[in-house]
Amino acid sequence: MTDTAGTSETADRAEPGAGAEASAAVDAVAAFIELDGVEKVFDVRKKTGFLKRERRRVRAVDGLSFTVSRGEMVGYIGPNGAGKSTTIKMLTGILTPSGGRLRVAGIDPSRERTRLAHRIGVVFGQRTTLWWDLPLIDSYRLMHRMYRIPDARYRENLDRCVELLQLRDLLDVPVRQLSLGQRMRGDIAAALLHDPEVLYLDEPTIGLDVVSKAKVRGFLRDLNAERGTTVLLTTHDLQDIEQLCSRVMVIDHGRLMYDGPLAGLHEAGESERTLVVDLERELPPIEAPEPARVVRVEGPRQWLAFPASASAAGLVARIAAEYPLVDLSVREPDIESVIAKMYAERAGA
Ligand SMILES: Nc1ncnc2c1ncn2[C@@H]1O[C@H](COP(=O)(O)OP(=O)(O)OP(=O)(O)O)[C@@H](O)[C@H]1O
Ligand SMILES: [Mg+2]
Repeated sequence: MTDTAGTSETADRAEPGAGAEASAAVDAVAAFIELDGVEKVFDVRKKTGFLKRERRRVRAVDGLSFTVSRGEMVGYIGPNGAGKSTTIKMLTGILTPSGGRLRVAGIDPSRERTRLAHRIGVVFGQRTTLWWDLPLIDSYRLMHRMYRIPDARYRENLDRCVELLQLRDLLDVPVRQLSLGQRMRGDIAAALLHDPEVLYLDEPTIGLDVVSKAKVRGFLRDLNAERGTTVLLTTHDLQDIEQLCSRVMVIDHGRLMYDGPLAGLHEAGESERTLVVDLERELPPIEAPEPARVVRVEGPRQWLAFPASASAAGLVARIAAEYPLVDLSVREPDIESVIAKMYAERAGA
């Protein structure tokens, strides 16, 4: 872990270099993000005929309570429409809660949105905060002024982001000409120029290729380790969570369904990985050691499900020894199937 002496200008920022007990004590005093029975109800008016309108209430967030400590990196996951983006919008002050209590760094986001803006960074993967027609660097210059970032600090942060997110060759390119992955890296840099203490990421790896995903994940991991930035990460990619977050919260229908380590979620959902093997020729289903089993056969290709908690090595060795193996790959469980199984377990219990 790097020494952060030169970077922690805010007195109350957690010192990642400090001992675990010390930071735990700080955390106990200051829950950095606090939600207590937060609700968000949308009134949706739907036109159902000539002059006829139907009012429908959507309870997007329904009595949500949790806290996040300084320096934590938390995965915030759930199926489409679960209320994740709505939560993040309330945490930034874009939306006002319909009920409950919400604080970020002691600030009520919707009441003091501008004051909070100096302390938080947001990346919405589906949208950009950059100026579409301007070269990337011009957006950064505008943010420099908007956030009144001291010159030295701005330059230092910009240099760091440009280097680590590999933006050097893109700075003079208008944003609309950037690829999705390039733009996303540009957006992440934009969210960090003012040294936010907390970063909300709403699907930052959506649509990125494997290489770009790895770059973004590495960058976020370092940011959290070196600067102690608190990160709330929403994603549909379980590998983002696996590689970045020790804690994961699952939300569905606006309610918290699970809060704990990812391993616990796999257990709760009894999630499985899939080994896809290509054999030399069409064969009867592979006789795999329990609990692995063939779940699909298509010509010479077979799919075997096995527990996500188990290593694939033993299974692969066994198959390679007994069958004419040509190629193989392992597929991770996706978040939706893990959650679906979690429900099935509960319903069956
Ligand atoms: N501005 C709005 N007006 C009316 N309904 C809304 C509005 N924003 C969100 N909703 C509804 O609130 C619910 C939660 O939406 P939200 O965008 O928070 O889901 P999400 O968990 O981010 O889903 P996704 O994974 O698809 O991004 C959905 O039913 C959605 O239709
Ligand atoms: Mg969303």
